[in-house]
Amino acid sequence: MKKTIFNILFIIVLSALFLQPVSAQLKTNAQKADSVLNLMTLDEKIGQINQYNDDWTATGPVTLDPDKVTQVQKGEIGSLLNCVGTERTRHWQLIAMQSRLKIPLLFGQDVVHGYKTTFPVPLAESCSWDMEAIELSARIAATEASAGGIHWTFAPMVDIARDPRWGRVMEGAGEDPYLASKIAYARVKGFQGEKPGEINSVMACAKHFAAYGAAIGGRDYNSVDMSDRLLWETYLPPFKAAVDAGVATFMNSFNDINGVPSTGNKYLQRDILKGKWGFRGFVVSDWGSVGEMINHGNVKNEYEAALCAITAGCDMDMESRCYKNNLAQLVKDVKVPVALIDDAVKRILRKKFELGLFDDPFKYCNPKREQKELNNPEHPIIARDIARKSIVLLKNQDQLLPLSKNIKTIAFIGPLVKAVKQNKGFWDVELPGLDSNFIVSQWEGLKNKVGNRTRLLYAKGCEIEGENKDGFADAVDIAKQADIVILSIGERRDMTGEAKSRSDIGIPGVQEELLKVLLTTGKSVVVLINAGRPLVFNYTADHAQAVLYTWWLGSEAGNAIADVLFGDYNPSAKLSITFPLSVGQIPIYYSHFNTGRPAVSDSNRFYNSSYTDISIWPKFEFGYGLSYTTFRYSNLQLSKRKMKSDDRVEVSVTITNTGHYDGEEIVQLYLRDLVGSIARPVEELKDFRKIKLKAGESQQVKFLIDKEKLSFYNQQLQWVAEPGEFDVMIGASSRDIRLKDRFELVE
Ligand code: GLC
Repeated sequence: MKKTIFNILFIIVLSALFLQPVSAQLKTNAQKADSVLNLMTLDEKIGQINQYNDDWTATGPVTLDPDKVTQVQKGEIGSLLNCVGTERTRHWQLIAMQSRLKIPLLFGQDVVHGYKTTFPVPLAESCSWDMEAIELSARIAATEASAGGIHWTFAPMVDIARDPRWGRVMEGAGEDPYLASKIAYARVKGFQGEKPGEINSVMACAKHFAAYGAAIGGRDYNSVDMSDRLLWETYLPPFKAAVDAGVATFMNSFNDINGVPSTGNKYLQRDILKGKWGFRGFVVSDWGSVGEMINHGNVKNEYEAALCAITAGCDMDMESRCYKNNLAQLVKDVKVPVALIDDAVKRILRKKFELGLFDDPFKYCNPKREQKELNNPEHPIIARDIARKSIVLLKNQDQLLPLSKNIKTIAFIGPLVKAVKQNKGFWDVELPGLDSNFIVSQWEGLKNKVGNRTRLLYAKGCEIEGENKDGFADAVDIAKQADIVILSIGERRDMTGEAKSRSDIGIPGVQEELLKVLLTTGKSVVVLINAGRPLVFNYTADHAQAVLYTWWLGSEAGNAIADVLFGDYNPSAKLSITFPLSVGQIPIYYSHFNTGRPAVSDSNRFYNSSYTDISIWPKFEFGYGLSYTTFRYSNLQLSKRKMKSDDRVEVSVTITNTGHYDGEEIVQLYLRDLVGSIARPVEELKDFRKIKLKAGESQQVKFLIDKEKLSFYNQQLQWVAEPGEFDVMIGASSRDIRLKDRFELVE
């Protein structure tokens, strides 16, 4: 007994001796931020919430400042964007260290799908449905970006999009809130790592908050007209997933929602994000979006724009200069309490402390680490793997693919065969002085694959745009000499992205006419379609023997495509967005309501919700994608037919690889709430499993259905699960439902 008491006393004395006063050892980042805030003048506070573009490149309308250096020296700028590389960031950080309080700058950059090593555009990656691969892709991007002096990426873009006329559909994860939420979570985790301040991590930024993808007419920057119910049920979930993943920052969207610009939307930023969701990071405007509220017509001038945005919860002003030029006067006019500015400044300072920038402002400016990580041989290998997983096999008539490795002659034709930088897609990072020789073109990739074994013939055939068919003859000539034709067509990489909305999403120029001519040779043609968005290509889809949607796959594009063409990787991707039959069908998405006169087949389009001049079905549906093998779905079992709200239903199904190739299958679980106080969609993705099966192998796949998966926002915006019957559908796509059953939620 005595011994025990002695031990306890000994431990107490020992810890008292070594326990440092809180001030030195356990002060939190919040307390440190408060300490710095208390030293700051109002001008310095306003400077911290001001972000300018560096002069290397621009991603918005440029305002030239002759005295940016002076402003940084005076602590009047808190962050720079489009400033890349250890040399350039060190240059600016040294200037910031001349300021009175030596508050370090934050460097932000659009590292959307890779820094140097470029990954598939995000919409392509989302078709992998592979959360590990997607997280790893973001991890590598963060590793390279942080080695290049970047602290903060303006990614992931998590906007739900159901209108491929909108060019920014390429930046997101498609049309479905369930899949897009999983991907948002994975990408934030990938960018930010386990905890802020890790050397290989950057802060992530969930953007564009909110509902930017619902721009009317698919026209970028256009208004959004939306019920709160739809906002909550479809457009907010990926943002909430980002918050759950610990995302450090948010970015406003350019659009208004029902007449209120997001940058000045208090309901979004203070009630939902910082209130209900408890978000403690900071919100940055989009480029100039504070000042653009004048154009929106919600404020009269920059003075009112600054007042509206800071009040609504926008913590940092990217490039509009409204905060810099008006906040001091707004405080003087007692229109803006300093407390609002303090809150914004503290949110930003906390992040700078978390990143370790106060301890070492040059922590991310290590040229040796930059050289090492930007030339890390592991990175292209990882990029190649996620690229292969993003390729969607849309058609494979008579199992033309995979190609035999004994094939004698291949004619590789098209304007994108030898393209290099095109493979990077939109929102790649332009690094000063970096050449493109690390990017593997499709031609290089095929050459790497076949070596001297196969004769490769090349003809461009035509340009991406324009009516010139002079190159057709050469193309036909080499096609006649070949055993098979591979035709690589599509759009230019800058035809899809920001400010790239298109009213016609067909394949431009005479590329499909080139296919038509090539088919007259009687040779089989495999078509590769390169794009950042869903395109309309009915002739190609109906007449080519095989079609691969190769998107923009990044720096390992050529190798990834060759891996799939020759079966070294069996394609497993499935569409995360609906591909319309025609632009006239838009908006078209799988999780639609049934309506009072449901369109359920093309055979009867009388008096139902369909067009008289076109099928009710898209060209390719959400969740669609083929494999070189086939899968059988069998033995669907539910653990119970009646479920109480605190209960769960276990669903199991057996998947068998019935083909000759090992492969992966994305098994999709859809639910339908047959009767609700709000009409419920005909189906909603509620879970999925991506499984690997050897030829002939079977595996039981299990899902758990709980009350959360049955819930929705009712008219009062309450998240409820209502008693009644639910259909359970297990599918290989949203339209290819293989097995179905039903259960009842009883209370
Ligand atoms: C652009 C984009 C946004 C990007 C920002 C900085 O206008 O809308 O996504 O992060 O400006 O480049």
